[in-house]
Amino acid sequence: MRAKVAVGLVMMLVLFDLPVTARSRQSQSIDRRVEALLSQMTLEEKVGQVHQLFYFTQFMKPEVVEPDIRAGKIGSLLFLTDPVLINRFQKIAVENSRLKIPLLFGFDVIHGFHTIFPVPLAMASSWDPALVEQAQTIAAREARAVGIHWTFAPMVDIARDPRWGRIVEGAGEDPFLGSRMAAAHVRGFQGTDPSSPDRVLACMKHFAGYGAGNGGRDYDSAYIADAELYNVYLPPFKAAVDAGVGSAMSAYMDLNDVPATGNAFLLRDVLRKQWGFKGFVVSDAEAVGNLVTHGFAEDKSDAAYRAFTAGVDLEMSFPGNPIASAYASSLTKLIAEGRVTKAQLDEAVRRILAAKFKLGLFENPYVDESRVAAIHNNPEHRRLARVAAQRSTVLLRNDGNLLPLAKGDPKSVAVIGPLADSKRDIRGSWSFVDDINSAVTVLEGIRAKVGSSVKVEFAPGVDIARVYPSPFGIIQGPRSAPWTETQKRAEFEKAVSLARSSDVVVMVLGEHEDMSGEAASQSSIELPGRQLELLKTISGLGKPLVLVLINGRPLDISWAASNVSAILEAWHPGTEGGNAIADILYGDATPGGKLPVTWPRSAAQIPIYYAHNITQEPETKKNFTSRYWDIPSSPLYPFGYGLSYTTFSFSNLRVSKPEIKVGESTEVSVDVENTGRRAGEEVAQLYIHQRYGSASRPVRELKGFERVALAPGQKKTVRFTLGKSELTYWSGAVREWVQEPAVFDLWVGSDATASLTTTLRVVKR
Ligand code: NOJ
Repeated sequence: MRAKVAVGLVMMLVLFDLPVTARSRQSQSIDRRVEALLSQMTLEEKVGQVHQLFYFTQFMKPEVVEPDIRAGKIGSLLFLTDPVLINRFQKIAVENSRLKIPLLFGFDVIHGFHTIFPVPLAMASSWDPALVEQAQTIAAREARAVGIHWTFAPMVDIARDPRWGRIVEGAGEDPFLGSRMAAAHVRGFQGTDPSSPDRVLACMKHFAGYGAGNGGRDYDSAYIADAELYNVYLPPFKAAVDAGVGSAMSAYMDLNDVPATGNAFLLRDVLRKQWGFKGFVVSDAEAVGNLVTHGFAEDKSDAAYRAFTAGVDLEMSFPGNPIASAYASSLTKLIAEGRVTKAQLDEAVRRILAAKFKLGLFENPYVDESRVAAIHNNPEHRRLARVAAQRSTVLLRNDGNLLPLAKGDPKSVAVIGPLADSKRDIRGSWSFVDDINSAVTVLEGIRAKVGSSVKVEFAPGVDIARVYPSPFGIIQGPRSAPWTETQKRAEFEKAVSLARSSDVVVMVLGEHEDMSGEAASQSSIELPGRQLELLKTISGLGKPLVLVLINGRPLDISWAASNVSAILEAWHPGTEGGNAIADILYGDATPGGKLPVTWPRSAAQIPIYYAHNITQEPETKKNFTSRYWDIPSSPLYPFGYGLSYTTFSFSNLRVSKPEIKVGESTEVSVDVENTGRRAGEEVAQLYIHQRYGSASRPVRELKGFERVALAPGQKKTVRFTLGKSELTYWSGAVREWVQEPAVFDLWVGSDATASLTTTLRVVKR
């Protein structure tokens, strides 16, 4: 009997402990393999592992990198996506180099690879982390199919300035939503086992503070006080680390005068010591050499010294650039001089080798070229891209329930605007290797939806262009030549007369894909070119008018917000964007997306975000309703805002324990009901406000959300937990993380202005 119990116990231990033991056994064996390899490496080979080069198939010849791969002088290549060439280079590394260490191939898989999903800002608008995880699972599968092992995503920079072009690449302004999204992206890319043949290593970027650049100008200095850094800018990075992200990228700009790429506070104190990050750190492109440009390092060798000792393990470089390859050219000398130690170099190489082992590259270095097409053309990928685009769309206005349109009536639809039939722009930035021809524009989506009985005609109306061309034009190819003055007049007139002769007008306005993203900051957030003029003119015709926005940032749509009946924010919705928009326009899908950013009335209000402090007079007094005398200080649309084709109500807000001690948790619940006649999805959002403490706290902070699907008349209870992690903040007064006894206001509702409220009291332990 006793023996039986003992056997049972052992079995239980074995069973329950298996995953942990297996994992730790795996990591022990990786550690052993890393050490064994490291002990055989020459100094030169070690320096090779911390050297990464861009490889552009369009401009470079294999012979440029092959001798260095053979000599073990390159550890990683990026931007190469041709599986044949990837296998060719990998073969040299694993069969012809002395130690046969595989190359790590990296690429910016930001929102899809072959199948393009909505841009990250759009995916954040879904408020649906599970969807984001699924999308990035597919992106990982498609990328790994060609031999990409590592993506430079997710970008988890908080962005509170829509002039900054890279706002499109992140999850918006909020640390809580941003953290949930960050973790979802990481899970999607990496899964639980990055060595599986359909996963890639993720890279959180840009560490840290890049979104806070002065004036929204790309690459500009950021000054962020410690409290703001810990409470706002760092949480999404921490969430990515907690989700197991394998690598991090140091940012370009300087943070409080210290360039992020030479910033030991960020890279050592926060990342390694405070968070225990075990992965490796890569510099952003040329960020090491640019430490000289910053006025921080004396010369290239000093730049290598500063970045390396601050904690950047791997340097990303453009071949042939004079400021490039600072590590490759200086580390050996720096070690000889004693400025960098051999142990420091070993530490960096260890982390990179460990990633290569974890990815299974020593066992499976090659990719099966014959499987690529089948993986890429899986119809399930397109289906999910369409769902993702539907769920990312935000309905901003729907006066008189103009939407959804009926399929057979109106009989004629004018589809107007420079974005209405642009395959390039429906996809968004960082779409480099997808099949652009298979992308579906809004015009195509509407045509496919309504069939031949409805006349659907198109006129671009205006042309738009950047004043200063995008540096990415070299990869993306040129755009068509700007119209002449005569053409401009004729096209404008053509669009107006098309609208005049149609029953309903769908205007598709916004931005080209290269008007947001990297090196795409904008001084104003107005609709580029003569789009507003066209909108006003066509609106003046009095036809039913729907405005669809294709863009990467909130734009100044103040005029439209009070003059155009229906406004749909589609962002850059990806390959299936046109179909998804048509689904929504015609009611085959119901919009349920919510803004992940506060939407300003104009650039003059920037920065504007909902989680600000109250500080002195609130704008709610009879004789003081705005902090400007010329415009309201409230935004055009609040954070979390978005309409549906149905209506919802929130009721019965309750807290399981209205008084808790510091460190304890309570449950907040609320009933959400679909009070309309269509099925729809609502995002229940929980906001808190700490009434007093050692430091002032924001008027509201998001601390929970859930997207719920409800049939007409259906009611569901949504539950949130409020505990230590939600009620703790970094106090600028105490200079530490604190949870304080205080009274908290709670609100639950459909956006950051939710009015259903109750309180929670937290008392001393
Ligand atoms: C520069 C960008 O800042 C970064 O986000 C990107 O991953 C690298 N280039 C590589 O393309």
